[in-house]
Amino acid sequence: MAIDLRSLLLQILLYVYYIPLALAQDVNQFIYNGFHDQANLSLQGIAEIHPNGLLQLTNLSRNEVGRAFYPFPINFDTTSSLSFSTNFVFAMVPEVIKKNLGGHGIAFTISPSTDFTQAEANRYLGLFNASNNNLSTNHIFAIELDPIPDFDFGNITNHVGINVNGMKSVELAPAEYFSKKEGKNLSLELLSGNPIHTWIDYDGAEKLLNVTLAPTTIPKPDMPLLSRHIDLSQILLKSMYVGFSSATGTLASYQYILGWSFNKSGPAQSLDVSSLPPLPEGRKVKPSLVIITSLITVALVLITVAGAAAYILRRKKYEELLEDWEEEYGPHRFSYRNLYKATKGFKDKELLGEGGFGKVYMGILPSSNVQIAVKRVSHDSKQGMKEFVAEIVSMGRLRHRNLVQLLGYCRRRGELLLVYDYMPNGSLDRFLYRNEKTNLNWAQRFRIIKGVASGLLYLHEEWEQVVLHRDVKASNVLLDAGLNGRLGDFGLAKLYDHGTNPQPTRVVGTVGYLAPEVTRTGRATTCSDVFAFGAFLLEVACGRKPIELQADGLSEQVLVLVDWVSECCRRGAILDTSDPRLEGNYVVDEMELVLKLGLFCSHATPASRPSMKQVVQFLDGDADLRELPHYSASFGAFTSNESSDFISVPFSQASAPSMSSTDSILRGIGR
Ligand SMILES: *[C@@H]1O[C@H](CO)[C@@H](O)[C@H](O)[C@H]1NC(C)=O
Ligand SMILES: *[C@@H]1O[C@H](CO)[C@@H](O)[C@H](O)[C@H]1NC(C)=O
Ligand SMILES: *[C@@H]1O[C@H](CO)[C@@H](O)[C@H](O)[C@H]1NC(C)=O
Repeated sequence: MAIDLRSLLLQILLYVYYIPLALAQDVNQFIYNGFHDQANLSLQGIAEIHPNGLLQLTNLSRNEVGRAFYPFPINFDTTSSLSFSTNFVFAMVPEVIKKNLGGHGIAFTISPSTDFTQAEANRYLGLFNASNNNLSTNHIFAIELDPIPDFDFGNITNHVGINVNGMKSVELAPAEYFSKKEGKNLSLELLSGNPIHTWIDYDGAEKLLNVTLAPTTIPKPDMPLLSRHIDLSQILLKSMYVGFSSATGTLASYQYILGWSFNKSGPAQSLDVSSLPPLPEGRKVKPSLVIITSLITVALVLITVAGAAAYILRRKKYEELLEDWEEEYGPHRFSYRNLYKATKGFKDKELLGEGGFGKVYMGILPSSNVQIAVKRVSHDSKQGMKEFVAEIVSMGRLRHRNLVQLLGYCRRRGELLLVYDYMPNGSLDRFLYRNEKTNLNWAQRFRIIKGVASGLLYLHEEWEQVVLHRDVKASNVLLDAGLNGRLGDFGLAKLYDHGTNPQPTRVVGTVGYLAPEVTRTGRATTCSDVFAFGAFLLEVACGRKPIELQADGLSEQVLVLVDWVSECCRRGAILDTSDPRLEGNYVVDEMELVLKLGLFCSHATPASRPSMKQVVQFLDGDADLRELPHYSASFGAFTSNESSDFISVPFSQASAPSMSSTDSILRGIGR
């Protein structure tokens, strides 16, 4: 019985001793490495616990409050030594990782009650309202982790504050942590989305409160961020709840507690950082990743923009006009890109010459290595373009060894490009007048004359339709590698009319080569081509231009070549007019023939001029000039009224005998 009594006493003793101990332990300290099933927190507002144990106080809903408190009150010993120690890991994840754009933060709170129904969200963090803020009857102590500045409360961006009974902090500091490695405080971005470890330690004997922050990647720093002497026994009541309150305003962020440890009598246990629940995917954004991502995005955007710009510029650079009706001319059509490459981008170095209609460039076709001459003709008119191109293409079908072959064309906005065979020896006028080329002997000159005559005959009579050249002159005669004369620019003066002026009223040709009737009527005929050919014959034989300015020291006078030769002819001294550079080295019969034929072709009356067929016959010796019935009469005709008409063509331009608008298109093919 005694034994029974003893064992009973022991049992009672054990009961009395152990049970209160167990209860005290329960209330003294707790630790949550994640808030799993056993966690019996009291949640308020929009707070919720994720299945993985993550405590989410707020989400992106605006002007909301989320609270989580330990369900039982804790007895604080306010008479003697009131101490406590707590540490927790929190994270604030903004919707967009941008500085200070997020909710109002989190407050670790010690409060006499968990009834906050009258408290406001936003800058009051769900703890106070405008009327009870800062009242000593609140008995609320809080450590606020607040990314948003509130100037009414005297606080700053991204700060940690010690708050007593209200939102105005008794002490605050920018969020920083002491780095042992660097020996100084480093900044901590509360809204970075990264978990941050916080320690709050109050020593009641010293009345010293320390608040320490650090990234979860390092242990607790030796130096606290805030260290303040404060007598919490004056503020706290005996029975208090501990927990967290968090609020969003017009801006919101996800605000989380990952783990929490608390102890009322001694240092709180350390959290096992590695076992804390992870933050939701994509919300825990590393700043470096953000920077890299945005850099990559910016780079991609820049590359795309640059690529698009390059593509557009390239498109623009090689842009051409191509319409449906041109399809049938496909083989005659050159791409602008090829011409651009052939002429090395129309470089001045490749410039062969410049005429009234545009510049001529030398080029080498990239695909075939064929040498070409490209004439750029500015052409703004859409009108008549179809006919223009049709005629160009038909010109391309003209084939004669004394014509410069037209290979094709290309069209761009306001511009037409004509592609010709390249003539390596350039134009005849350079040999005749400019000393840059070697002199041509009589045999060469006579062959050139015969060649040009046969080319012109082909245009007038031997092709399927009559083609007028309209601008025969030495500068339009080009010399191929064998120094054979080839007519360039055939038909183009007329074609050019299509585009600019459909009425045939515009005078086309060059002063000195222009038949008198053309200046009156504006109509070109084969006869006017023959007139120009006559001027050309005299040019080659005499080595002089049809109209020259001669200065004799006192006055300037105009030498009209045909008048001069005609006068010498009448005096019986026609050979005196032969080019002095020939130094008398010529076949007299041929020279006389060319000079007289020149005069014959220059007859003022169109009908009196020979045809090109006759001209060729004379030159070939198949017909004799002297057998012509009106032969002698031919040479008196130049001083008639008609020819004075011709002489009266703008003499102000005599020093530049070309009428600029009618200058040869192909002048200067070849160097
Ligand atoms: C935030 O959480 C509350 C409570 O769970 C919910 O009603 C609300 O829709 C959530 N808001 C957003 C933006 O997710
Ligand atoms: C959780 O706390 C409430 C009071 O807040 C209490 O009624 C309930 O019994 C507790 N449950 C557990 C499992 O501790
Ligand atoms: C502020 O909160 C206190 C205490 O909860 C309450 O008595 C008071 O009515 C509230 N005032 C307003 C304006 O909400």
